[in-house]
Amino acid sequence: MPSVNLNHHKAFQPICTPERLLLGPGPSNAHPDVLKALSLPPVGHLDPFYVELMGEVQELLRYAWQTSNRLTLPMSGTGSSAMEATLANTVEKGDTVLVAIKGYFGNRLADMAGRYGANVQVVEKKWGQAFSLDELEEALIKTRPAILAMVHAETSTGVCQPMEGIGDLCRKYECLLLLDTVTSLGGVPLFLDEWKVDLAYSCSQKGLSCPPGLGPFTMSSRAEEKLANRSTKVPNWYLDVSLLNKYWGSDRVYHHTAPVNMNFGIREALRLLAEEGLEEAWNRHRTNAENLWSGLQRLGLEMHVDENLRLPTLTTVKIPEGIDGKGFALHLLNKHGVEIGGGLGELAGKVWRIGLMGYNSTPENVSRVLNLFESELSVFDKIDSAAA
Ligand SMILES: Cc1ncc(COP(=O)(O)O)c(C=O)c1O
Repeated sequence: MPSVNLNHHKAFQPICTPERLLLGPGPSNAHPDVLKALSLPPVGHLDPFYVELMGEVQELLRYAWQTSNRLTLPMSGTGSSAMEATLANTVEKGDTVLVAIKGYFGNRLADMAGRYGANVQVVEKKWGQAFSLDELEEALIKTRPAILAMVHAETSTGVCQPMEGIGDLCRKYECLLLLDTVTSLGGVPLFLDEWKVDLAYSCSQKGLSCPPGLGPFTMSSRAEEKLANRSTKVPNWYLDVSLLNKYWGSDRVYHHTAPVNMNFGIREALRLLAEEGLEEAWNRHRTNAENLWSGLQRLGLEMHVDENLRLPTLTTVKIPEGIDGKGFALHLLNKHGVEIGGGLGELAGKVWRIGLMGYNSTPENVSRVLNLFESELSVFDKIDSAAA
């Protein structure tokens, strides 16, 4: 007889999830059609139907990123797995990796690169700012890296890094350009080939409105060349693209049992993006974000980032003095089922993070969040000062 039992445990009951509007830094709500695709009966990971679907996912990802890279596929894992894949495949012990850090996720890139034996060099900006071409060029001249790694859409600060000219600098100083597009894919203009990006990754749970679980990954022919010229094996079996490509490429050799339903989901998410059209999706995100910013400003709130650098997918709002920001976010979640995020890293306690990503970027959600800020912030302020 089993001695560990669950008779009176809540886990014995069928799952019932709360209704939530996810307007934080991610995940965003999944599109209902994506949820339907996820719940289809699984097929084998080498089933001809699935093999065809894999090709479709790759083609849709190339469209979403605007790249013709052959090696474009979703890693089985969240965004961080694809982040790790970019470094694991290209960094060899002693390679200099220059990380341009302007927020929390730049720090994660530096940490990961170090774990793969890189000589990590950093150039830093205040959290809320972006790099100029001159600043990057100076750092490239000083460090002469094999890879320049940076975050396009810094989710911790709400800053969008302008990309024009960075790829050319990387060609001039003979390094690869690695770009985090986790909070930009599907919501912010991305032109990987035009920008001469060599390695990029993203996630399924933000602009694509699919649950977390896949990490889109792409690699240019320049990056493939670095991989091919390695003198040592890729030190991560699971994320080794040369092995993965035997499954995703023409050989169709088993690598790991693919999370087939997640790939049904991302296929539908990417199909919906293509059906809407990239420019339409980018414009929708922009318009809704601009309405959010002006509405918040009308309520007397201040944004953390200058308008020209603001991300349409993620807005950082300064928490007014005297307000318990964490308490207010919890209040919105518990009383209204609306999730917004708090600050991360050095912005903890200083900003709220409001996401309008993918399926959630709608005028209705902008109104919902503005109405809540209008009605609840003043009440909360009174409760908070009464309690103090
Ligand atoms: C910019 C950025 N990079 C990387 C990640 C890591 O992705 P994940 O949490 O899906 O592993 C995140 C997560 O929010 C992110 O915002």
